[in-house]
Amino acid sequence: MNLLIIGAPGTGKGTMSALIKEEFGVVHVSTGDMLREAINSKSDIGNKAKEYMDKGMLVPDEIIHDIIIERFNKDDIKNGFLFDGYPRTVAQAKDLDSILSACNKKIDRVLDLCVDDKVLEERITGRRICSNCKAIYHIKNKPSKVIGKCDVCGSDLLQRKDDTLEALDQRLKSYHELTKPVIDYYKEKDLVSNINADQSPEKVFEDIKGILEEVA
Ligand code: AP5
Repeated sequence: MNLLIIGAPGTGKGTMSALIKEEFGVVHVSTGDMLREAINSKSDIGNKAKEYMDKGMLVPDEIIHDIIIERFNKDDIKNGFLFDGYPRTVAQAKDLDSILSACNKKIDRVLDLCVDDKVLEERITGRRICSNCKAIYHIKNKPSKVIGKCDVCGSDLLQRKDDTLEALDQRLKSYHELTKPVIDYYKEKDLVSNINADQSPEKVFEDIKGILEEVA
């Protein structure tokens, strides 16, 4: 199964991707995680991406093209993927179409996580992420057992640099201006399932599971 998960910042793309990966065995590819790894390793791509990401702006399409091509060169992706946070512009969606058609692949479903913007502020500012295994927590809704430590691997929990109110404003602006048209692009191809993501994570996943069981 080849899947895309799209939604504004904090709608639960990362949280749901971990569950989908476990249940359906697809490879989870998050362009946000790839860019953060590039920043941590101080690579050229990371240094360029950092300027944009810290401000909550989208990284230029050319940089995203390069990291996606590199990712497609790895074998694991051939058995099914879940792209999280990609494509984010119509230009990226068209680029992905060309990449997929060159390797005789297609997208089977686009999951569009829908939550009102006003709910997202609390989700984003309360989010904490494991510095090692990237497990996702929330100080109120999903606290770790020991404050500041990951339940899975015991490493420190961190707050993302772009999880500030100022950066969130810009991230939402980019989402509405540049990423919403991507959903329309896939709607025209009849690939989009809208999901009410303003429910408990368990209920959101149940809805996604129902949709994907029909696709698989
Ligand atoms: P990226 O890392 O993709 O971030 P994002 O899209 O802003 O999304 P988030 O990771 O913030 O949220 P999420 O939807 O995954 O929510 P989560 O599950 O963590 O991108 C970061 C940046 O990288 C971009 O701004 C851009 O600069 C750059 N970038 C990345 N891809 C790019 C691309 N293709 N092109 C250009 N630039 C790109 O959940 C959030 C919180 O809510 C957690 O605390 C969680 O516990 C909680 N939560 C989750 N679900 C629920 C629920 N149902 N109920 C209550 N709480 C919930």
